[in-house]
Amino acid sequence: MILVTGATGNVGRHVTSQLAEAGLEVRALVRDPGRARLPERVEVVRGDLTAPETLEPALKGVESVFLLWPAFTADHASEVVAAVAEHARRVVYLSANVPDGPPTHYHEIERLIRHSGLGWTFLRPGGFATNTLGWADQIRQGVVRWPYGQAARSLIHERDIAAVAVHVLTSAGHNGATYVLTGPEQLTQAEQVRVIGEAVGREARWEELPADVAREQLVAAWGDPGFVDSALKAWAGFVTAPEPVTDTVERLLGRPALTLGDWARDHASDFS
Ligand SMILES: NC(=O)c1ccc[n+]([C@@H]2O[C@H](COP(=O)([O-])OP(=O)(O)OC[C@H]3O[C@@H](n4cnc5c(N)ncnc54)[C@H](OP(=O)(O)O)[C@@H]3O)[C@@H](O)[C@H]2O)c1
Repeated sequence: MILVTGATGNVGRHVTSQLAEAGLEVRALVRDPGRARLPERVEVVRGDLTAPETLEPALKGVESVFLLWPAFTADHASEVVAAVAEHARRVVYLSANVPDGPPTHYHEIERLIRHSGLGWTFLRPGGFATNTLGWADQIRQGVVRWPYGQAARSLIHERDIAAVAVHVLTSAGHNGATYVLTGPEQLTQAEQVRVIGEAVGREARWEELPADVAREQLVAAWGDPGFVDSALKAWAGFVTAPEPVTDTVERLLGRPALTLGDWARDHASDFS
């Protein structure tokens, strides 16, 4: 039995359906089973990762866990990792490939897992292509006004992250491995807008927004100045140090990683 956390999310939904399609026994941890909309053969169990005492029913009889962490702090993570270790033999943790800097909750959770006695594999993806969904309205209107058009990332399709997770969960030889996962190409944010527009049949162009104007607008929209500042700092960093491209997806799956154009075609309805 494989337990998938975040099973209703971008990556977890694909992990769940790919495991079910492969005929494996899959259980999904969700907070609201009534809204989960998962394939019929998936067992859906209620639980909340921020409330470790709710996890026992989901963990019973489980051999492997696909774990994501839904919060920006590691609060309760040590209890959750301990509960997983009590039941399961191994964990595939959806971490992140964060640029050098102060330690994050991703580092803390990796550390907890390393010391848990579980067999583990860490998936460290770079930026998700789904992040560009935040531009959907602007792409529909033909202009994306945003800061740091020259910030370059190697955005990854969530289906590729899931396919790697499924590969790792269903084959041997990944114990103790850390996989840095990216898409196949580096594209600046301005190029991302053009590629998505072309793929979904809408002409969309970039209009550079000064960082201070963007900050004001994003604080109004997102409400958390600290979060806005860290996002702006990350984009500024990708101008001078573009996100790297790795061949890990292709090495593990035996086919090239999906492009941003592939992703946009899969998500055409999100931009229509
Ligand atoms: N975006 C990026 O560029 C990027 C890059 C690297 C790593 N990551 C990491 O990837 C993960 C996000 O993956 P994603 O995009 O697939 O997720 P997502 O679409 O944001 O969905 C979040 C999932 O977590 C579940 N969830 C939220 N709070 C929960 C809780 N308290 N207990 C149990 N489940 C909870 C949600 O389920 P319900 O709401 O249905 O309960 C949902 O299935 C995060 O850990 C993020 O840090 C993101």
